Amino acid sequence: MDFTEEQSADVVAASFNNTSDPRLKEVMQSAVRHLHAFVREVRPTIAEWMTAIEFLTAVGQMCTKERQEFILFSDSLGVSMLVETINGPEGRRTRKGKLEPTAQTVMGPFHMTKSPERKLGDNINPVGNGTPLVVEGYVMDIDGKAIPHARVDTWHADNRGFYDVQDEAGIPAGTGRGLFTADDKGHYWYRTVMPRGYPMPTDGPGGKLVVRAGRSIYRPAHLHFIVEAEGFHSITTHAFVSDCEYIERDVVFAVKRSLIRDFVVINDAEEAKKFGVTVPFRCVRFDIVLAPKET
Ligand code: BEZ
Ligand code: FE
Repeated sequence: MDFTEEQSADVVAASFNNTSDPRLKEVMQSAVRHLHAFVREVRPTIAEWMTAIEFLTAVGQMCTKERQEFILFSDSLGVSMLVETINGPEGRRTRKGKLEPTAQTVMGPFHMTKSPERKLGDNINPVGNGTPLVVEGYVMDIDGKAIPHARVDTWHADNRGFYDVQDEAGIPAGTGRGLFTADDKGHYWYRTVMPRGYPMPTDGPGGKLVVRAGRSIYRPAHLHFIVEAEGFHSITTHAFVSDCEYIERDVVFAVKRSLIRDFVVINDAEEAKKFGVTVPFRCVRFDIVLAPKET
């Protein structure tokens, strides 16, 4: 078969016909077909194609052990969220009359350190800049039955929008992170400070492209969670702050309606005393529903 514009995809796809791994064959032949269709549609000049190659090269060169620019690029194109959605509960069979399992979102680049083991009620941000926040919820199955001793790993940016691992943060490692074990009723709770929305890094090619496109570079304020329990699909998700100004334009498209919560302002000094915080403080309830492994 001649290599013509019309036949290019068929010619190259056929070159993978003898790939012994059937999944690799399927993925590569599909990638070739889509890539060739894209090039036929966009009709890049040779100079433009070189620009694309240089862009991808720069993305690779930006990657280190601590920095994954390809993930940021994938996040900003919504591809990470598409993969999460396909592999999360929405991509599985739903069950009539049962609770919807908690939706899945991106993990993001800031979970590169292990969260310190904490006791229920601990303050995970004793540096304490910002409005105190009490976080609590129950981990349950799709029947609403408690999942005792579920593991709740949580991490979030502080009131300036910084994670402990960022150089600019200047706060002790482990601040804003905690690994909790829910009690026998599946209940977990902890104290911290209100998180703030923050920009995706724009010092690399992925972020620079977002800026060049005139898009918002911000992520709305959120708390991250990974929740695990034996016999259940673990979930990577966020609780989003409903009154954050960026809630409608997340640069990585991770907001799902079901994950938005009111972080209620409380001025009651008695309530504050109960939780060991000062007024005014905020409180959020974030229950997590896990799907059983066989679904
Ligand atoms: C995060 O939420 O930590 C995050 C996710 C994607 C890109 C940048 C940050
Ligand atoms: Fe985050």
